[in-house]
Amino acid sequence: MNIEFRIPPDVIKLTSDTLFEPSKHLKLSEPDQVWSLKDFGYSEEQQAKAPFPIAVSTPFRLLSNEGVETLRSIVTELTQYRRASERIANYIRGALYYSEFLRGFCMSEDVNALIGKVSGAPVLPHPMSLYQGHINLKPEDPTREVDRWHVDTILLDYVLMVSDPKSFQGGHFEYFQSTKAEAIRSLIRDDGLPNVVKVEFPKAGFALLQQGNKVVHRANRVDSGNERTTLVQSYIPEDPHFVDVSKLNDCKKVDPPEFLFTEWSRYKAFLAREKLNHLIDQIPYTTDKSLLSHYLRLAIRDVEEAIFELSDPSEGQLNHFSDDPLTGLIPE
Ligand SMILES: [Fe+2]
Repeated sequence: MNIEFRIPPDVIKLTSDTLFEPSKHLKLSEPDQVWSLKDFGYSEEQQAKAPFPIAVSTPFRLLSNEGVETLRSIVTELTQYRRASERIANYIRGALYYSEFLRGFCMSEDVNALIGKVSGAPVLPHPMSLYQGHINLKPEDPTREVDRWHVDTILLDYVLMVSDPKSFQGGHFEYFQSTKAEAIRSLIRDDGLPNVVKVEFPKAGFALLQQGNKVVHRANRVDSGNERTTLVQSYIPEDPHFVDVSKLNDCKKVDPPEFLFTEWSRYKAFLAREKLNHLIDQIPYTTDKSLLSHYLRLAIRDVEEAIFELSDPSEGQLNHFSDDPLTGLIPE
């Protein structure tokens, strides 16, 4: 069961907003091909530790033509909230606060079921609203990539093409068909990047799914065209006993502080609640007090981590590999 969606005070509803209607706005299909972590060269041990078997899929359809047009008009109004960071040139976070349509689409049970099927394990939309419906816009500086080489700070996400892909040149979503370590080695050597795949989206409304923390990817610079918009929707495994790769530090440079710290606290409290619920049902009858203490400590670890992170006064940093791949190195 997911977290209840909350809208912060003083958020102004969009005039272009509308109700999300699955029968009108969705047109779901499955990908032609899904590459696994094994296909990408990850070891059996690495595959076993990952919550999903998928590496990346080919694009598959999520939105109908009407769904795309509705989303495009909402994005136009949302551009008043656009931001820029050192890694991502032009983006909007927290879009779900402003739009009932986006809340309906990003938390659609039909889409959740499809994403769970393609990823290989049941999923929940990311409990932190800021990680849902992230929108990347065309950079205002034409020399900048839309988003630099990186791995995601969440586990699983789709990248949905919102613009007509025939209306712009360049701006490809690209990824290394290799392990993270191989990709970083290739970037360090600057060897012509032989393992890089450029994705061609058939049309607006198609998305690709990736275990984004295991796939080094970027969205390249746009050579021509007025619009290049994508929507990135994030998920967590339904089973809360996963190793969380997200860190508060990753968000401090990209998210509005008036939303971020409360969202982070809710997210970590949610994970602990799910683990405590599991413990209430499953904790064994035993006289081993140290074992019971161990289980209790594991269940509340997310909350203890969050308290520690909230006490950190640093400004944060969102890593990437573009200028110096070693500075963005994230250990396995
Ligand atoms: Fe990404």
